Amino acid sequence: MSATEFRKQYGSHPFATRAKAVMTSGNTRSTVFVDPAPPYAELGQGCRVTDQLGHVSIDCNNNYTSLIHGHARRQINDAVTRVLQTGTAFGIPTESEIALAELLKERTSYQQWRFSNSGTEAVMTAIRAARAYTGRDVLIRFEGSYHGTADVVVPKGAPGLSAGVDKDVLVLPQGDRDAFDRAIEYVGGNLAAVLIDLLPNRAGMKPAEQDFVDHVRAATTRLGALMIIDEVITLRLAEAGFASKYNVQADLITAGKIIGGGFPVGAVAGRQDVLAVFDPRITTPVSWGGTFSANPVTMTAGRVALEEYDNTAISDLNNFGDILREKLLSAGVLVNGYGSLMRILEPVSQQNFWWETYERGVMLGTNGLLALSTAMKMSDLEEIAKAVINSVAAVRERCSDE
Ligand SMILES: Cc1ncc(COP(=O)(O)O)c(C=O)c1O
Repeated sequence: MSATEFRKQYGSHPFATRAKAVMTSGNTRSTVFVDPAPPYAELGQGCRVTDQLGHVSIDCNNNYTSLIHGHARRQINDAVTRVLQTGTAFGIPTESEIALAELLKERTSYQQWRFSNSGTEAVMTAIRAARAYTGRDVLIRFEGSYHGTADVVVPKGAPGLSAGVDKDVLVLPQGDRDAFDRAIEYVGGNLAAVLIDLLPNRAGMKPAEQDFVDHVRAATTRLGALMIIDEVITLRLAEAGFASKYNVQADLITAGKIIGGGFPVGAVAGRQDVLAVFDPRITTPVSWGGTFSANPVTMTAGRVALEEYDNTAISDLNNFGDILREKLLSAGVLVNGYGSLMRILEPVSQQNFWWETYERGVMLGTNGLLALSTAMKMSDLEEIAKAVINSVAAVRERCSDE
């Protein structure tokens, strides 16, 4: 079957027809759309996913980096099954929330934690906390970094933003010290926070430079502004988060993905005096709700997932990433990243590339993202490398024919 015919099967499948009748483009998440229609997952086991046509792929997407142990990890399922017997959500807190916060505090040394249902909410709320704490308005963030879909972090001028909603947001090229210095001079004493991702996926997953990170840390401290490090993706890279590799301590971090053990999650963590803005006992607290925030299913799954992802597991998985990156680089594939996260940077059609790898039995992110899981073995890495290398060759050949 040709690559075109392979794709077509999904476009003409009854799921695609039914889905498009009730959902624009046939699903709910812009990020998972592939043309003519995405495959629909039916079964996830370990590092493999089977779709509605029975096609099996090694999952290197892992729900956009969140499934650190792949699918249906027994320890997580057992713990969640027990929670299901005793109630899944309450109008009062549960001990499971304390346990996850304790574990995260012990690992990262960030003093206080608050949970939400997504990284988007976490980023939105961290920015609000920074503004409330400093009494200032301006946020600096960096070009190309993805921080979810709140109004202040989507690209300026994006459709649906009201005029002026981002007037207090400056977007600068990451790593450009001169631009940063000019911006803080211009903003003066009105800088509330700098939001930075040290391994920005959508901007190409090139690790931030130490000098620049130190410079931002020093400038924010000097100006009495906050440094918010977005660790939603990168927390998986080190027990204390990716910032620990830079020996830098944020005032606030945002987290998500792996800390929910496969269930919806987000978190803001950081300095006790900053998180005090949420204290309902103060006169004008920042409001933080979320009907399902910190529900016991997510909190329990997250705790178990992290217990199963200790220092040894983290360095083994990062090591797997280094091995895979090396295999790809030595075959001439352009790839960036760090540890268990990487991004293929081929200047080829991402949709075509996604389908080529999927057909060869490897599922990536639609932007060429790979996130490894502890469910993978060395033999899986071999298969992944082979599929990616052959797909790059196929897409390059197709490009040169056109
Ligand atoms: C760095 C970063 N921040 C924030 C988010 C938003 O998280 P969520 O998709 O859980 O809303 C993402 C999502 O991919 C992310 O990669």
